[in-house]
Amino acid sequence: MATDAEDTTMQALILGDGPFGRAVADALGARGMAIRLAGRPAAGGHDPAAFAGVDVVVDASRGESVLGNVAAAVEGGVRRFAIATTAWEPDRRAVAELLRARGASAVAASNFSPGAVVFAQLVEMAARLTARLPGYEPYIVEWHRHGKADRPSGTARDLARRILAVDPARDRFSTPADGPAETGTLEVVGVRAGTNPGRHLVGFDGPGETIELTLTARDRGACASGVAAAVDWLLAEPRSAGLHPFEAVLEVDGRLEVPAAS
Ligand SMILES: NC(=O)c1ccc[n+]([C@@H]2O[C@H](COP(=O)([O-])OP(=O)(O)OC[C@H]3O[C@@H](n4cnc5c(N)ncnc54)[C@H](OP(=O)(O)O)[C@@H]3O)[C@@H](O)[C@H]2O)c1
Repeated sequence: MATDAEDTTMQALILGDGPFGRAVADALGARGMAIRLAGRPAAGGHDPAAFAGVDVVVDASRGESVLGNVAAAVEGGVRRFAIATTAWEPDRRAVAELLRARGASAVAASNFSPGAVVFAQLVEMAARLTARLPGYEPYIVEWHRHGKADRPSGTARDLARRILAVDPARDRFSTPADGPAETGTLEVVGVRAGTNPGRHLVGFDGPGETIELTLTARDRGACASGVAAAVDWLLAEPRSAGLHPFEAVLEVDGRLEVPAAS
């Protein structure tokens, strides 16, 4: 009979008890992992002792919580992370340094769906091509549920970064809160209403025509399955310390491997 000492069930602790943390819990639970879900700690930060025996931490909390969460978890002995939370760019360097200093690895992405990886490459290609045509202007519109903490979404910011990197006519993005759109900026608009799990539209408005590319999430399942694939990747073998993009999980022998649905 198996004893507790022989139990090899992998333990995952999910930090963040919102809709996405719960979707990830379902995806990892379906893979036979033991799951704990933790919300915002009453004492301001998580107790490192709470991470004893945890094989992997998934962060699905709030941007401003990520650095403190990772610090508490590495202090508690965790060396594998999937960081799905968005809007923690100001702390990115500190998180990366902390991970490297403690020999820990993390897969981090603002969107863990395979479709988002393909979509980003399509957008980059369209931006590069239209930047060579006269009079084409890119824009991004994203829709999410009422109550989503950040705006623009992490995915929209990532898409904007990719467009700006290949479009010499624009050097920053702007939102309606910045006032009238200025020449040389990329317009990014976020709509927050209802229960929308996430839709991103990237358009290129040209003389007499418009190109539009759309990524529509029908539920949180694709992203949650992507997080589960990242967890599998981290647990499969030791990975180098620091931050890894989700592309590293999908890219096998130069091909994109789509994770099995949970
Ligand atoms: N990468 C992806 O594929 C993907 C997909 C979907 C969502 N996301 C991102 O994942 C995050 C969570 O999404 P969501 O829709 O579930 O957001 P949410 O509704 O805001 O839920 C986040 C939960 O985390 C809690 N929290 C705050 N600080 C915490 C901490 N230190 N430890 C543990 N929990 C903490 C929040 O509590 P309070 O309400 O008290 O702050 C809240 O209950 C967001 O950043 C979202 O943008 C990423």
